[in-house]
Formats: sequence, C-alpha cells, structure tokens
Amino acid sequence: MKKIIIVLVLASISLMAADGAKLYEKRCASCHGEKAQASPINGVSALAGGDVTELALTIRAYRDQDKEVGPYTMHNVNQMMKDSTADLSRDQIVALAKYINGLK
Ligand code: HEC
Repeated sequence: MKKIIIVLVLASISLMAADGAKLYEKRCASCHGEKAQASPINGVSALAGGDVTELALTIRAYRDQDKEVGPYTMHNVNQMMKDSTADLSRDQIVALAKYINGLK
C-alpha cells in the first residue's frame, strides 16, 4: 500500500520532468520493440498499454533488485533489466511508465 501511494504521489508531481518517449527509444526499444509491442524473452508479454502504476513499480523493482515485488520474481533473467534501469531516477521511471501506457 505504501508503495502504491508513493508511486501515485510521484506520478502527480513529475509530469514535466523527464521525456518518456526519448528515454524509451534510447534505453528500452532494442529489446521491447519500438512501440513496446515485442516480447524480449519467452513468457514476457508486450508492455504496450500496461497499467502506469504497475509498470512503474515493476521498473523500480528491477532497478532496486527488490525481490518482494511480484513481477521481479516472475522471470529468471533479471540482469538485463537491472542494467537497463540501474541509473533511472524516480521521475524517469514515471515518465517511462506513462509513455509505455500510451502505446498501443
Ligand atoms: C537488453 C534487453 C532489454 C532492455 C534494453 C530492456 N529490457 Fe525490459 N525486459 C527484458 C527482459 C529479458 C525482461 C524479462 C526479465 C525477467 O526475467 O524478469 C524484461 C522485463 C521487463 C518488464 C516486466 C515485464 C513483465 O511482464 O514481467 C518491464 C516492465 C520492462 N522490462 C521494462 C523495460 C523498460 C522501461 C526498459 C528501458 C528502461 C527496458 N525494459 C529495457 C529485456 C530488456
């Protein structure tokens, strides 16, 4: 619950900060596809249109290697996502989640 509140607060105050589209293109598209339509490995579905809060929590869990967050433990290959997210700020994570949510 605490985590969800934190993410919602962040989402509301960080609209202007980071450019999700640019970040996504540079950092995520190679594996997840230009429009987040691709599956990076077997069993991981496309990210496009995903719930903003869920995406943000998942990305943050990879960044922080937080094993208590569900999606992190869903798959076995976590190093790639750790490397891709290690230096992301909270604003950047929210911007990415919003951008991905808007993709179809
Ligand atoms: C080098 C390839 C690669 C890059 C670059 C990459 N990812 Fe991933 N991503 C993966 C793989 C592989 C998984 C599955 C990881 C696992 O086993 O947990 C994954 C999983 C995810 C998941 C969880 C999907 C699910 O349904 O469980 C999200 C969300 C995600 N990535 C977002 C991003 C974002 C945002 C970026 C850019 C900052 C990014 N990824 C960059 C390969 C990549």
